[in-house]
Amino acid sequence: MDQAILRQHLDVAIAAARAAGSQAIAAEMSKHFHVTTKHTNDFVTDADKENEKLIIGMIRKAFPDESFFGEESGESDASGTGRWVIDPIDGTTNFFRGVPDFVISIAWEIEKYHPLVGVVYVPSQKELFYAAEGMGAFCNGVPIHVSTVSDPKMALMVCVPPHRHHACADAYFAAERRLFDGCSDIRSFGSAALECAYIAAGRLDGYYELLLGWYDIAAGLAILREAGGKADCVGGFSDTRCDVVASNGLIHDWIHQQIHG
Ligand code: IPD
Ligand code: CA
Ligand code: CA
Repeated sequence: MDQAILRQHLDVAIAAARAAGSQAIAAEMSKHFHVTTKHTNDFVTDADKENEKLIIGMIRKAFPDESFFGEESGESDASGTGRWVIDPIDGTTNFFRGVPDFVISIAWEIEKYHPLVGVVYVPSQKELFYAAEGMGAFCNGVPIHVSTVSDPKMALMVCVPPHRHHACADAYFAAERRLFDGCSDIRSFGSAALECAYIAAGRLDGYYELLLGWYDIAAGLAILREAGGKADCVGGFSDTRCDVVASNGLIHDWIHQQIHG
């Protein structure tokens, strides 16, 4: 892929993420939003919807022939040359509870599930994580790389229970127990995109979560891959069901071994 094309897409994604980040912070400060429930433990606010509108509007102006897959508006006509995968606020529960760990997540792909550009913006921290294929991964302009932790006993893991699908809980917690017994500690931040970006930056080492949407992780995984990490899905990637394993690469096989017992 031509680097100039990647750069154009990255620049527009960064501008849209920054604008949406400012809009979300303004909404959070004014508390001018309503929370509604989409499904069990799956929430949306009007700030999510406004952010998605803003992001799609900005991108469409720059790339009128491309298509969109947004968490809130779904799939636009799929005939475009590229597809933008958008989570307008990842960490919605954090957002409306006043926890600062929420992000704007924007990815661009031509081939499905192979994101070429990823941007994860954390407006509360003003941290901008981004990457484009072959061009490296960055946080606020500084190159980032996954950790060198290869001993699982030293690994800081992210594991997230299937809070919307309690029927999967027994198998999940059995796997988390095995991971817990072999690692240093487990964290959960409430934003899949943020967690992937943190692994990319070497702040965390591995991640296991069931039943994510592709919009939750597309941008984070683009950044993680460019930072030297690894990710896959038990059962493969899909728009609506990703059982994701992500890591610094060094503990990847170990995570899979614990999951499969
Ligand atoms: C959620 C967050 C959360 C993850 C959920 C996601 P949302 O996205 O990424 O960390 O555990 O499964 O759906 O609803 O805040 O955009
Ligand atoms: Ca999400
Ligand atoms: Ca969301």
